[in-house]
This record gives sequence, structure tokens and C-alpha cells, in this order.
Amino acid sequence: MSSTTYDLNIFPPSGTALKRAAELLRNGQLVAFPTETVYGLGADARNDAAVKLIYKLKGRPSNNPLIVHCSSKEQISAVALIEPRSLIAQRLERLSSLMPGPLSVILPKHPSISMIATGGLNTVAVRIPSHPVALALINQAKMPIAAPSANPSNYISPTTAGHVAKSFAGQLEMILDGGKCSVGIESTVLSLVSEHPMILRPGTVTKEELSVLLGEQVVSQAEKTICSPGQLPLHYAPQTRCALLGQVEVSEYPSSVGLIQFSGSSTNIKETLPGYQVTATLSETGSLHEAATKLYAILREFDEQNLDLILIEPCALEGIGEALMDRINRATNNADTSAAE
Ligand code: TXA
Ligand code: MG
Repeated sequence: MSSTTYDLNIFPPSGTALKRAAELLRNGQLVAFPTETVYGLGADARNDAAVKLIYKLKGRPSNNPLIVHCSSKEQISAVALIEPRSLIAQRLERLSSLMPGPLSVILPKHPSISMIATGGLNTVAVRIPSHPVALALINQAKMPIAAPSANPSNYISPTTAGHVAKSFAGQLEMILDGGKCSVGIESTVLSLVSEHPMILRPGTVTKEELSVLLGEQVVSQAEKTICSPGQLPLHYAPQTRCALLGQVEVSEYPSSVGLIQFSGSSTNIKETLPGYQVTATLSETGSLHEAATKLYAILREFDEQNLDLILIEPCALEGIGEALMDRINRATNNADTSAAE
């Protein structure tokens, strides 16, 4: 790797870098780190002042709670209050094969966790990431790490260390580089404190998978009811106007258009685009997992090209297609600014 790659406070995750990152966290400072979903902006989840820095740097509303990251199931007991043999304890046990992984669960909050991290709620979102650098950092720092995605509030989540540096260079002492995120979209957020386990944010861990493991009905948050404060209609939006393919009449296409396709099989679409066009394919083989790993990076790339419009081809709402369409709908509904944070 060229030396210029590492002049933006981006560090390869060496033993020394991890030690320094842990030290910064213990001193109440912020560190950006990789997870398998997206990069996180981390602080000591027990330290009010440290957690406040996250909200400040992101420009995030104080009522939008953060996810607290643990490195083991044992550590969850220092973050959440779980009565042995309770329904919540049983549910958590049944999900054990998914943790570590891209699943965050809402549990009753332990008093040691900052109220600022939970946006004033008495519940806490907990996740054990599977990325080795995230796990090593939590272990080295010996603390639960509160971390939202490492992007300014309302912008696209970062899937590389470079994405984080683009937003926060000079404002963060350390960005640990763990390469490209292997999942690429944020974790599934599942409430275990509701009557039926409830998906508050879809992700690559699907409702079907959760229902089978839990052995009970899993419900999705009712459309348009905002019970997870981060689930505001306008989120993950690029600055460039985005629309679903088909939402804008061909005759109304502006002079420069970007097209994001799922499999690239419908090549005739390109012929309808204006003279200046850029196109990208999320997965040649039509794999939704591959599409998820590329979606945010391509949206960012297109957003930097001064296009008049980004068109995104929708995918079927099956399996992880539901999570992908959730993110795509958030990016394309940006005409409705009334609901913006
Ligand atoms: O994959 C991920 O989840 C990434 C990585 C870094 O772990 N993190 C992430 O965090 O996406 P963030 O802050 O961008 O999204 C957290 C989501 C928000 O929608 C928030 O409202 C919801 O989780 N959330 C957190 N705590 C909650 C709680 N106690 N009750 C309901 N929703 C909660
Ligand atoms: Mg986020």
C-alpha cells in the first residue's frame, strides 16, 4: 500500500494501532473502526461526555439511540439487564447462532450504559460484530463500544476506511482500516422487548430466518410508524436526486443520468438514457448479497460526479431484497423533505 493511503489518520489494524485506539477510547475520545456491515464511529458506551462527541460529530439528533457493541455473550450482561429464564433470556439464547453477526437486538438497558447513548430510552440496542478488528478493539479497550455508522447524519453509511476519511478527515484521530465491509448494509435491528419480536430495521438477517430460530411470529414495524427513532423516512440519501427506474418519464430525463442496475441483464434501458450517462451493475450474477456489498460505494461514487439524476433499478422484495429496497426507498424518496431530521 502506498504511504499516501495512510495520511488521513487511517491506520492498518496492527497491534500498536489497536493499543493506541483502545487508549483513545479509554480517554473518552472517538475511534472509527470496521465492522462486517458498515464502519462505526465508536466511543466508550459508559461515558456520557464521550458519547456526546459522537452526536456532535455526526450532527445526529440526541433522541436517536446508538448501537452498543460487545465482543462476547458474557459482555452483554454488563450492557443489558436480563432476568435468567425470562422470555427475553430465552429469545436471546435462541438467537445465539447469529451473534456474532449483522443482528442488533433491543434489550432492557443496564444502568452502567450512558443514557445519552440510548437517547433517553430504558432499552439498549446490542450487537456482537463478527469483524475481527472490531472484536479485537472491544477486547483491547475492555469496554462496550457505542457506535453508529461513521457518516454525517442522513448521508450514506461508509463501507471503506476511505469513506470515513472523506467525511471526517482531520476530525478523528484514528480510523482503523479493516478493508471493505463484507455485508455492506447496516444490521437488522430486532426488538426482543416487544410482545412479538419486532424488526425495526431490515437487514441481511431476514424475518424468515429469525422466525425459524425464535419459534414464534416475528413482526415488522408497521409502515410509517416511527418507533425506532433512526427510522425516519429520509435517510441514507445522497445529495444528488435519486429515483427508482420507472419513476421518471424517459422524456423527462435531465441531461446527465447515472443508472444503477441489479444484474445488468436489461441492457436496453441504457439506450433510453441521455448523452451523458454512467452505469453500474450491482451483481453480474444477480446475487443480492453481492449487491448489498456494493450499493453504498456506488451511490457515493455517483454522488461525486455532479449528475442531475441517479436512477436505481428496484429488486424483488424477497429475502434480503427487503433490506435493499428499504435503503433504496430511503435514497429515492428525497423529494419529501418534510420528514427530514
Ligand atoms: O450495522 C450496524 O448496525 C452499524 C454498525 C456500526 O454496527 N451501526 C448502525 O448504527 O447502523 P446507526 O446508529 O446508524 O443505527 C442504529 C439504529 C437506528 O435506527 C436507531 O434508531 C436504532 O438502531 N436503535 C438503537 N437503539 C435503539 C433502541 N433502544 N430502541 C429502538 N431503536 C434503537
Ligand atoms: Mg446510520
